[in-house]
Amino acid sequence: MPGENVAIVGGGGIGGYMAAQLAWAGQPVTLCVRTPFERLTVADGGGIREAPVRIAAEPDGIGPVRWLLITTKAQDTAGASSWVEALAGAETTVVVVQNGIRQAERVRPFAGPAAILPAIIRCSVERTRPGHVVHHGAASMVVPAGPDGQAFAGLFAGTAFDVAQDADFVTASWRKLLANVVGNAITALTLRRSDVLSEPAIRDLARGLLAEAVAAGRADGADISAADAERVTAAFAGRGTGGGSSMLYDRLAGRPLEHRYLTGAVVEAADRHGIDVPLNRAVLALLSAASGHPPDGSA
Ligand SMILES: NC(=O)c1ccc[n+]([C@@H]2O[C@H](COP(=O)([O-])OP(=O)(O)OC[C@H]3O[C@@H](n4cnc5c(N)ncnc54)[C@H](OP(=O)(O)O)[C@@H]3O)[C@@H](O)[C@H]2O)c1
Repeated sequence: MPGENVAIVGGGGIGGYMAAQLAWAGQPVTLCVRTPFERLTVADGGGIREAPVRIAAEPDGIGPVRWLLITTKAQDTAGASSWVEALAGAETTVVVVQNGIRQAERVRPFAGPAAILPAIIRCSVERTRPGHVVHHGAASMVVPAGPDGQAFAGLFAGTAFDVAQDADFVTASWRKLLANVVGNAITALTLRRSDVLSEPAIRDLARGLLAEAVAAGRADGADISAADAERVTAAFAGRGTGGGSSMLYDRLAGRPLEHRYLTGAVVEAADRHGIDVPLNRAVLALLSAASGHPPDGSA
């Protein structure tokens, strides 16, 4: 429905692309940024277009909004709390559009009376400089089934996004996590694009990581199986040489990594349920060392 008041926190790849899609569909959108820029432009197969969004570096004058989308990296969620405290009221739904599991729990401490909706996104998009995002492909989301999920799907009517509702969101988020613990972790560690996953020794490592993640996810309540793991390896095997991952781009750019919320989520779930995940634990240690942040958070 046009005219719903939307604010999006995080003007990176996902936030920028969602803001542009909503704005082009006629929604009034405020993009809440940490690093200010003047204009939002999006490049895709159709060329480069500017999106008519309001860009704000401070919450003053925006007021409570109907929809507040959080599109920071997971590790920056708490850093965005001042936006949530200023813009979320009793009529607001805060939508946490991030990878990993337990997205809603990340904003609950500072969301006040607002409703919270977690969202999983499939969308390959890259911020190449402040205010400019490149859409490489895909545009879909999954949210929990229910009135909020339905209303959120309605918000994206007329955009490029397909929003599906899933009654078993825990399973849906673990399915996405399976892809991330292989694709993001291995590309970031090897500094190679997804084609590295077609090398036999790396494919074996991927299978081992996935088998552990499936066991941890099942113990955590996800209805996933070896077939889901096979789908992930098959999907990577079928990819060309060009694709990367957001964690690879972040490592190449020297930015903080999201590993604690991806591989770290598998290790934490395994710890909660007394499951051994030595390969994921080793990968977590390597990612932590590569990012300069030991797993115990001591740096
Ligand atoms: N990109 C993809 O293809 C993709 C695909 C699927 C899922 N995801 C997931 O989507 C989420 C967002 O990823 P992304 O690729 O869009 O990340 P990103 O390009 O790094 O963008 C994150 C943005 O959040 C901003 N930010 C951080 N703290 C903030 C604060 N306190 N206030 C306002 N803005 C703040 C950053 O600002 P600065 O400009 O100052 O750094 C940055 O622009 C992640 O969970 C990711 O795993 C991404």
